[in-house]
Amino acid sequence: MEMKPEQRPMKHVADSAVIQTQIVLSSHINGAGRLFGGQLMEWIDIVAGVVARRHSHCNQTTASVDSLQFKEAVRLNDTLILEGKITYVGRTSMEVQVDSFVEALDGTRKLVNTAFFVMVALDANDHPVTVPGLIVETEEEKAAWAAGRDGMN
Ligand SMILES: CC(C)(COP(=O)(O)OP(=O)(O)OC[C@H]1O[C@@H](n2cnc3c(N)ncnc32)[C@H](O)[C@@H]1OP(=O)(O)O)[C@@H](O)C(=O)NCCC(=O)NCCS
Repeated sequence: MEMKPEQRPMKHVADSAVIQTQIVLSSHINGAGRLFGGQLMEWIDIVAGVVARRHSHCNQTTASVDSLQFKEAVRLNDTLILEGKITYVGRTSMEVQVDSFVEALDGTRKLVNTAFFVMVALDANDHPVTVPGLIVETEEEKAAWAAGRDGMN
């Protein structure tokens, strides 16, 4: 018998974390010779969606995106790393942080963008559904949880 969402065990941040890697191709470049911002947003949105799916085991929808800042230009042939993790859960909503980095050939990274998403888990009828709780262990995870809680309430 399928487990009800509220009966599912709480999960750790690491259980749903996602790392996605891209090489910037010519099809991703805008007229100014840089990575098209909309392309980056698409990749970030997908990473956030997979984090939310892994946490909730449900389909989900994006309720909001916050704090999209572009701090570094990304150019043709750059390596881009996107790291997504869950930071806070409400009843049916999940806050997901996605950090994007450009990685040089020597392995050093510069932060390009930090985005915060609120994803809402949906049942088979497209209604919001309860998500598993989140176990926060490290000081960083606890601080992110507190910031997410303060931001949502
Ligand atoms: C997001 C959506 C499912 C919320 O539905 P709703 O009927 O308002 O449901 P609720 O009021 O029960 O809210 C559900 C949860 O979403 C959160 N929420 C709703 N709107 C939100 C918003 N704009 N920003 C952040 N969180 C939001 C609520 O706080 C609640 O969280 P909780 O259960 O953890 O307390 C609905 O507004 C929707 O389908 N929006 C369209 C989303 C979409 O199409 N996204 C794709 C973008 S192209």
